[in-house]
Amino acid sequence: MLELAFQPYELDSLELSNRFVMAPVWMGMADEKGHVTDQLIQHYSEVASSGIGLIITEYAYIKSGHQILPRMLGIGEDAQIPDLKRIVEAVHKEGSKIFIQIADCGLNSDPKYNSAGLIYGPSIIELKGFTEAEAMGVLTRENKHVMKALTVEQIKEKVKLFGEAALRAMKSGFDGVELHAAHSYLISQFLSNLYNKRTDEYGGSLENKMRFLLEIFKEVKDKLGKHPVSVRLNGEDGVAGGIKIQETIKVAEKLEEEGCDLISVSGGTPEKTGIVKETDEAYFSSFARKIKKHVKTPILLTGGIRSPKIIDHLLKEGVCDLIGLARPLIAEPKLIARWRSGDLRKAKCISCNKCFYEEGLRKYVNCPIFK
Ligand SMILES: Cc1cc2nc3c(=O)[nH]c(=O)nc-3n(C[C@H](O)[C@H](O)[C@H](O)COP(=O)(O)O)c2cc1C
Ligand code: SF4
Repeated sequence: MLELAFQPYELDSLELSNRFVMAPVWMGMADEKGHVTDQLIQHYSEVASSGIGLIITEYAYIKSGHQILPRMLGIGEDAQIPDLKRIVEAVHKEGSKIFIQIADCGLNSDPKYNSAGLIYGPSIIELKGFTEAEAMGVLTRENKHVMKALTVEQIKEKVKLFGEAALRAMKSGFDGVELHAAHSYLISQFLSNLYNKRTDEYGGSLENKMRFLLEIFKEVKDKLGKHPVSVRLNGEDGVAGGIKIQETIKVAEKLEEEGCDLISVSGGTPEKTGIVKETDEAYFSSFARKIKKHVKTPILLTGGIRSPKIIDHLLKEGVCDLIGLARPLIAEPKLIARWRSGDLRKAKCISCNKCFYEEGLRKYVNCPIFK
């Protein structure tokens, strides 16, 4: 088992030593100003030392004032470059490649991180009866008075900020960049009817709703040159008014046309619990399967993947090209080395989500069950 998973994989010009990818996980290990800490370097270095092909870092905010959680990693200032270089060097030393995920949390930002106390999104959302958004973990705070719809000028400014962050990523030595266009953050808010009520060129038709993403993509691609750009998308948001798979397929086709190097498939409520049986695993595989029928761009699939048998199946059936693991690597940072050594028992992670940060209880992400 896992012969295919452990084969090297050519992602554009980048040679990955195998098809395992550490999916982005906010660790809460940066400092309060978004700077890298020794603890964060140690975390990525440990997973890299297990021989994983590619690491995609936790989301890094492109400008201070767009965080949702404390101790998020930042890439909004040139002063962060020397720090970021330290992560890259530590990971490269172990032989893995590393992308940085860049994000703007949009309406999901926490107003306390913005000096004006404001949060920005595609539109101001009517909160009355807004249970779907609440279910997605959005707008749960008392933020209805501080929402602002971005003006076109501000949209252009955001596009520029993503490009500048991508340039910093290159100066820091990252092998590529991932755009976080999933999980109801700013880019995915533009893609969703739930948040995007605009009547200008950024709202209405799908072509208009994906304009923001495509402008950012082109800006980032331009800054990256030959280095790969990955885009993380929700196959579906999973709520009424959210993006549906038929639309995501069209977004993926357009991204392919523009030269996207990797599409990372996720979905609404990405961290599902109760992954017990093999049939519970790979819960977004139907999205990957459908997208793959329409594009040749490599597909990374993440979400509930736990067993070598399922990994073999996903790769052999051509459901995806790369296998993303998030919580399994929180529970067992050296999981890839364990599997390579021939111990093919499934990942220990029981998908209970107790690793999440809790104010006052745990400062950073950690697995209280197995570590
Ligand atoms: C603590 C925690 C933090 C996360 N942070 C991010 C993030 O920064 N960016 C992102 O795209 N996904 C994030 N995710 C989602 C994961 O990348 C992944 O999609 C999800 O955990 C499902 O995969 P798994 O079953 O292998 O854990 C996070 C997940 C967890 C558990
Ligand atoms: S607490 Fe540990 S076992 Fe539970 S989901 Fe998190 S990593 Fe997995």
